[in-house]
Amino acid sequence: MIRNKFKRCSTLWILLLGLNCATIVQGKNLVSRNLNFAQKQIGLQIQHMNGEIKNPCTLTTDGKVKYIAPKDWRSGFFPGTLWYLYELTGDEKWKELAERHTGAIESIKDYKDSHDVGFMIYCSFGNGYRLTSRPEYKDVIIQTARTLCTRFRPGAGIIQSWNVSKSLKAKGWICPVIIDNMMNLELLFEASRLSGDETFRRVALSHIENTLKNHFRPDGSCYHVVDYDPETGQVRHKMTRQGYADESTWSRGHAWAIYGFTMAYRYTHDRRYLDRAVQTFEYMRHHPNMAKDGIPYWDMDVPDIGREPRDASSAAIIASALYEMADYVLPEQAEDYLKYARKLLKSLSTSAYRARLGDNGCFLLKHSVSSKPGNSEIDVPLNYADYYFLEALVREKKH
Ligand code: GLY
Repeated sequence: MIRNKFKRCSTLWILLLGLNCATIVQGKNLVSRNLNFAQKQIGLQIQHMNGEIKNPCTLTTDGKVKYIAPKDWRSGFFPGTLWYLYELTGDEKWKELAERHTGAIESIKDYKDSHDVGFMIYCSFGNGYRLTSRPEYKDVIIQTARTLCTRFRPGAGIIQSWNVSKSLKAKGWICPVIIDNMMNLELLFEASRLSGDETFRRVALSHIENTLKNHFRPDGSCYHVVDYDPETGQVRHKMTRQGYADESTWSRGHAWAIYGFTMAYRYTHDRRYLDRAVQTFEYMRHHPNMAKDGIPYWDMDVPDIGREPRDASSAAIIASALYEMADYVLPEQAEDYLKYARKLLKSLSTSAYRARLGDNGCFLLKHSVSSKPGNSEIDVPLNYADYYFLEALVREKKH
């Protein structure tokens, strides 16, 4: 009897070990297969530039690759994609390319007209500094932090997102802050750490506290835009610009919130920030309109949702965030989050979302949406979907 019990136990152990190995092999395959493809696809994208330094972003309506100028908020993602290829392969070829494409947007360090200098410089120079320790990259990060702080409105304690153009003035907005802005704070935290200047960190913390207070609904979902009185900090309006409706769930905004508050926890260990990221993720995953494959529709509350485009960029951002969240939560929850992140990466790796070699303007992923209400870049590749997809693969490799 004892021998039988032992036999059953050892069979169970062998089975469990086998299952565990299968998960590990699948995880490795997930990275190696996608990396193999990404190297070839991005290699072709580079070939199409014929030796010039260009910055591919998406496809135009007639199917041509759209290249962007350094001042476009998305200019850091392609250099960042090259840094991730270098990190994943160790191949000097990618490092040289990453350096050239990163150098091409250095002027952004003094660009005061956009809150997105955090995205632009941290995805490019930030990754470059993390991987090479080049002192001149550090200087660019710190200078950009100074530039970003010129948009801080001390009366309200927030960094202003958009400048108020005529069309925004017509809506009555005076100091709009978008949830996306959480992503720009990584640059401030790093600049503070690198320079010892606490001002950058204080600005980031003030912005986070106000976002925590004003951007979220009781169910964990969030508004896209909050308009402030810059002198008093009074909230004037809560609304959307890229979502379906003011009270709806704009998917990428939620992805930025999940990622942004997880990153904020990394630098502060303030439990409220992690709880916010967790609650917003749980809200998204349990949303009644969440698709079975986990790739969100561009907005989760849009009517007749089955006919609406998905947003692969949201899925890639959430997948990457989940790998980091898994490091901070309890082991059982961590397993669950890693499983969900892998599910997203597996969905994105299927032919439904991942391009064929040489197609899709040589971007990696298909089916993202920039702004449906703005009738701009709908159901197209977007360079930030590719960037966060590769970042998630880097994180998968480390888990
Ligand atoms: N930050 C702009 C966007 O997510 O479309």
